[in-house]
Amino acid sequence: MKITLSVIKADIGSIGGHIKPSGRLFKTVQDYIATNGSGLIKDFYTSYTGDDIAILMSHTRGKLDSKIHKLAWDAFLAGTDVARKQGLYGAGQDLLKDTFSGNVRGMGPAVAEMQFNERPNEPFLFFAADKTEPGAYNLPMYLTFADPMNTPGLLLQPNLTKGFKFTIMDVSYTKGDRVIELKTPEDLYNIAALLRDNDRYVIESITSRDSGEPAAAVSTTRLHNIAGKYTGKDDPVALVRVQHDFPATGEVLAPYARGHFVGGGMRGSHHMPLMPLKINSPTSYFDGPPMVSCAAFCVHNGKFTEPADCFDHPFWDHVRDKVARKSIEMREQGFSGPAMLPFTELEYGGIVKILDSMNKKFTVRKK
Ligand code: F6R
Ligand code: MG
Ligand code: MG
Repeated sequence: MKITLSVIKADIGSIGGHIKPSGRLFKTVQDYIATNGSGLIKDFYTSYTGDDIAILMSHTRGKLDSKIHKLAWDAFLAGTDVARKQGLYGAGQDLLKDTFSGNVRGMGPAVAEMQFNERPNEPFLFFAADKTEPGAYNLPMYLTFADPMNTPGLLLQPNLTKGFKFTIMDVSYTKGDRVIELKTPEDLYNIAALLRDNDRYVIESITSRDSGEPAAAVSTTRLHNIAGKYTGKDDPVALVRVQHDFPATGEVLAPYARGHFVGGGMRGSHHMPLMPLKINSPTSYFDGPPMVSCAAFCVHNGKFTEPADCFDHPFWDHVRDKVARKSIEMREQGFSGPAMLPFTELEYGGIVKILDSMNKKFTVRKK
């Protein structure tokens, strides 16, 4: 059966700042999909990561389907009503447009979708990240799909040795989708040269060269490109098919043990390490650290199993301790140098005003 997995996520309000959605808000979104999705979707699952609610759906309607996207959009509108009534912070924050126009791309919510012929057993992973940008997945995806140091399957499994096709988007280009397709192993250096720059070049999808089947999809939404100003970090979602023709689950998870530095954290304007956390975890230290959660499923005839929480294991306690240490070390750096994002990525315009006001007071000494 050809099925589509669609994950659509948005921040539509949270408790105590940017920490987590209220129970009532979360239940409103969940109930909306349960009530209005019947006949349209095969199955769904909702979770939150920090202040973001994600709706994962399976259906047979293909990618960018207007009815599926409208279902999620309307669920977020219903949630926003509750968020406003409860006085939650940032109610409706990621819903940047007033009227729905075909699909949620360019409207604020993040979306990642994959359409494929379901294998007899079809395991996949659903990632959600908060307080960071889509480029946060660049390094983990590169290591998983392109580096045999991380993924022995690239050497051991004949279906994987043929490599993968990376579709990479230039997210700073706003007039349309500016993309490039590059292949492993021959384009490894070109891929690395682009993925180095998390702000600008973002993996949109990865496809198997052996079967032509989709392997991974990442949301590429940059909220500031839509709103014309910073309205919060993009907080990306991703889907990855695993095992057999694709990397093993452990090969996809392994790169997150690094706790690599990404853009995000406090006021979306810092470099902080990415912490792997359990599903439905809140935000904490320094509006972060930037976090990622991962739910593993099998899907059969469009029906999901219950999720396995990939980062709920003692191994990741050790990683979390390391990431906490890295966070504190970076925060000891204050505003200096690499602690903060480059000028163009800061979430606030205040610093522009400060610099403008001083610019007028600078003088050039006469020789
Ligand atoms: C991302 C997130 C941050 C905030 C940003 C704005 O989930 O919460 O990117 O959106 O720090 O915060 P306020 O609205 O307090 O200025
Ligand atoms: Mg937020
Ligand atoms: Mg968020």
